[in-house]
Amino acid sequence: MAGIEVTALHKRYPDGTVAVEHVDLSIADGELFVMLGPSGCGKTTTLRAIAGLERQTTGDIRIGATLVNELPPAERDIAMVFQFYALYPHLRTRDNLAFPLRAEGLPKAEVRERVDEAARLMRLAPLLNRRPRQLSGGEQQRVALARALVRRPRAFLMDEPLTNLDAELRADMRTEIKHLQGELGTTMVYVTHDQVEAMSLGHRIAILNKGRVEQIGTPLEVYDRPASLFCAAFIGSPPMNLIEVEVADGNLCGQGGLTLTAPPGLPRDRRLVAGVRPEALEVAEPGAEHSVPARVVSAEWLGDEIIYVVDHGGRRDVRVRMPSTVRFAADAKVGLRHSGGAPAVYDVGTEELVA
Ligand SMILES: Nc1ncnc2c1ncn2[C@@H]1O[C@H](COP(=O)(O)OP(=O)(O)OP(=O)(O)O)[C@@H](O)[C@H]1O
Ligand SMILES: [Mg+2]
Repeated sequence: MAGIEVTALHKRYPDGTVAVEHVDLSIADGELFVMLGPSGCGKTTTLRAIAGLERQTTGDIRIGATLVNELPPAERDIAMVFQFYALYPHLRTRDNLAFPLRAEGLPKAEVRERVDEAARLMRLAPLLNRRPRQLSGGEQQRVALARALVRRPRAFLMDEPLTNLDAELRADMRTEIKHLQGELGTTMVYVTHDQVEAMSLGHRIAILNKGRVEQIGTPLEVYDRPASLFCAAFIGSPPMNLIEVEVADGNLCGQGGLTLTAPPGLPRDRRLVAGVRPEALEVAEPGAEHSVPARVVSAEWLGDEIIYVVDHGGRRDVRVRMPSTVRFAADAKVGLRHSGGAPAVYDVGTEELVA
């Protein structure tokens, strides 16, 4: 097993597209590290560079203590699982699993032992004699994961491996991958554009945007203190409300009279935006203490909670998360108030978190 160091990675494709501008990652041995970002931000390119499937233009990649820039994929001792799991259609599960081991020339007894172990871990024993077309999508994906496991690599690289599964199966597989990674203790780099997946899986998450790392942190850090306006707008469903504010009397004042607690250490003479999570706002009866007058624009009922879109006279409507027991109809006059602590504050110019 091994940690992975990516230093100043830059990748320009032959047609001139810069897929990765500058990426530094320091992934610990045994860590489940998630790369999260929108489509086209360079996740797959970074992962393929780590795997050795794509040669970086500049920058270094180390796996364990070894500088692997010049090593072909087979010599990097890592296993990659893709969104489209390429199983050999004519081979039974058992032989699909054994294939990479036979290719390495391992003795028969060891191949058998490793296949049996991977089949046990991925609960594939009853499916060992079936061909891929006799398996469901989820089962095929488990075979693909098992085929990565049998190699007992130093690290796993996963590129959106669950995208083709339905929601329920994805949730199950997510739990399984997390459990498996914990049990094996093998370093894993997991790429996704799904923030729920990132939050629930990752020990740490790197948020990528346009070929650069915007933030690296634990799921909690990334949720509580998004490092930039991009992260603030990307994380959370719905994401933070971004409210333009001015500092007055030690408070942050937004349009429409909304007042927020100011965190210490705010820079002066800058245009500021407060990032306020939907659950840090509250819709109440009109005239409720500390509230400003507002109107419900729409309400999205999600079963256990309701997302209210509220107009409080600000430049933009805000989204408020409430338990579904608190019900107001569209167009209702209400009071809006802040119920959380000091919000995250961003500099409009630099787009970075300032307090
Ligand atoms: N072989 C290639 N030649 C030229 N440009 C490429 C090539 N492969 C990818 N790109 C471009 O590089 C950028 C990053 O692509 P990449 O596949 O790394 O993104 P991604 O973050 O994995 O996106 P997605 O979430 O859609 O999979 C994109 O603009 C893409 O169009
Ligand atoms: Mg991709």
